[in-house]
Amino acid sequence: MSIEEKIAELRQQAEEMIKRHADDLAELNEIRVKYLGKKGEITSLLRGLKELDTDDRRRIGMIVNEAKGKLEKIIADKNEKLKSDEMRSRLEHERIDVTLPGRKTWRGHLHPLTLTLNQIKSIFLGMGFTVEEGPEIEQDYYNFEALNLPKDHPARDMQDSFYITEEILMRTQTSPVQARTMEAHEPNSPIRMIAPGRVYRRDDYDATHSPMFTQVEGLVIDKGIRLSDLKGTLELFLRKIFGKDVGVRFRPSFFPFTEPSAEVDISCVMCHGKGCRVCKGTGWLEILGSGMVHPHVLEMSGYDPKRVSGYAFGMGVERIAMLLYGIDDLRLFYDNDLRFLRQF
Ligand code: DAH
Repeated sequence: MSIEEKIAELRQQAEEMIKRHADDLAELNEIRVKYLGKKGEITSLLRGLKELDTDDRRRIGMIVNEAKGKLEKIIADKNEKLKSDEMRSRLEHERIDVTLPGRKTWRGHLHPLTLTLNQIKSIFLGMGFTVEEGPEIEQDYYNFEALNLPKDHPARDMQDSFYITEEILMRTQTSPVQARTMEAHEPNSPIRMIAPGRVYRRDDYDATHSPMFTQVEGLVIDKGIRLSDLKGTLELFLRKIFGKDVGVRFRPSFFPFTEPSAEVDISCVMCHGKGCRVCKGTGWLEILGSGMVHPHVLEMSGYDPKRVSGYAFGMGVERIAMLLYGIDDLRLFYDNDLRFLRQF
């Protein structure tokens, strides 16, 4: 076969391959490499020219170069075509119908307990309180002993808990944050804080009980804090959250960590004091525990009861939320039933 024939054959072969087999850019590139690449068939023909004599070299060189140029052009055209085909098919596939009606995004919202907690926090923040936190897995010392409940104290029975070891338990109340906060302060320096959080008790799960619930603790310590400060602050808080006409009363009570202690009631939000099922006919609802911090509790955390005094209080957030929203079953807060949650 003459060299001219060989070139013509190569050229035809290459054109044929491009026409039949170059279905995408990668395949086209493979064909380009096969003929025009460094070791390609046309390239090696060009390289072989130097073995020919001058006349042949010029003549055949022209033919090879012409074939090469032609092939480059075909490849470039095909390249363009493949690219625009690809673009067209992408545009086709990714087309969006802008005339379709929009889909509403689902928007969540805060849980009723969080809403209630936010309201409580904002009232106390407005009165200059800070918000403190303590661990839910707590030491027996902070949960009981530092609050005047030594190991054999009978009041521990009311708060049976989930013990992890003899000395570590799920906290039964937020009151341990009292001692933790005092310890974190310079002795006798003023404190005005609330401590919201979850607490745990071995308990049934029914309309009014849950083995896990939420409390907000409060602690105020300074020089000359008196029972009237406690009364004034809690009355103001309760009027802000339940409305300015709510009745508030203080009843003597007992807590190991306060002396004197008081239970605080509000007039029933359902019957406004007339007496109903919710207030069991009394017209009053027990809403929080409180008292003047026991001198021994101050002492144990490094505060001097001769120099400062304080008051403390604790409330259940579920109970407040139930009264605020008229919810009659505590389990609704935890069941995650959307029919319930969507109402807030
Ligand atoms: N810790 C108490 C409880 O869980 C509530 C309580 C009562 C907290 C009186 C206080 C307080 O700070 O002064 O039943």
